[in-house]
Amino acid sequence: MAGGLPSVREAVADWLRRRVGVDPAGLGIIPSIGSKEMVALLPTLLGLGEGDTVVIPALAYPTYAVGAAFAGCDIRVSDDPDAAEGAALVWLNSPSNPTGAVADAQRLSASVDAARRHGALVASDECYIEFGWEAEPMSCLHPAVVGDDPSGVLVLHALSKRSNMAGYRFGTLVGDPSAVDRILQVRRHLGLMVPDPVQHAAVAAWGDDAHVDEQRARYARRRGILRGALESAGFAIHHSEAGLYLWATRGEPCWDTVADLAALGILVAPGDFYGEAGARHVRIALTASDDDIAFAAERIAG
Ligand SMILES: Cc1ncc(COP(=O)(O)O)c(C=O)c1O
Repeated sequence: MAGGLPSVREAVADWLRRRVGVDPAGLGIIPSIGSKEMVALLPTLLGLGEGDTVVIPALAYPTYAVGAAFAGCDIRVSDDPDAAEGAALVWLNSPSNPTGAVADAQRLSASVDAARRHGALVASDECYIEFGWEAEPMSCLHPAVVGDDPSGVLVLHALSKRSNMAGYRFGTLVGDPSAVDRILQVRRHLGLMVPDPVQHAAVAAWGDDAHVDEQRARYARRRGILRGALESAGFAIHHSEAGLYLWATRGEPCWDTVADLAALGILVAPGDFYGEAGARHVRIALTASDDDIAFAAERIAG
């Protein structure tokens, strides 16, 4: 502790223990400029490039592919743990953006075991971990997954979702201490430091759970309202056990659904933006205001 305030590393460590069930002892912990910086730059920071393969989920936040392409890596799109064979890095994302699917301990362990067998690193993006509704999201660093051995495993967290602080650009990379230290040495020379005032704000946000629980309750209410309206209008909701989105389908091409909802004044994301497997789904965010969610639900149900 310096000057009476915990460091950001201490604040993240305490949060991991308190909310994620992960013992931070022996883990590397460094700040990142939001989690997006790490999603986009991790292959580069690891020194990967031409001839290296990065595995990304079949339905995924597009920046995993952008970061791999930026480093010149080949991209393999697969959710099969054995896709790690011949790869350098495997991305996991639970709860998932866009589907809200949650990987359980067995699924996470299968990915970590396969990656270790094939000599690949696992990077698990867990930025929605505190928003479980019908499933309890688990960290890839949880003892049920890795025991007390974090080797080859890195996880990403951020304040953008937990604390609605996307504009502050604060994320953190946690895990295998030697991999985290290598990344720290490179980032430091690239000038990728988080400004001091943001670190102070981050310490306050990681240290407080009341604001997260309050926001969780707000999302849960909006989720119930939107889900009811969508189902009454003939939509099926798939996955969506966690996270800030409903993954919905009317069994038609996603752009037809996007157009119909746009005509009602409601903007949703086309599923094919996240991968071909999303061609018949749309992603509906819970992040609009209460008034706008009520308005949207009325129009969808009507
Ligand atoms: C899965 C996932 N990872 C990372 C990010 C990046 O968020 P940030 O850089 O604000 O932490 C997002 C943002 O939507 C996301 O959905």
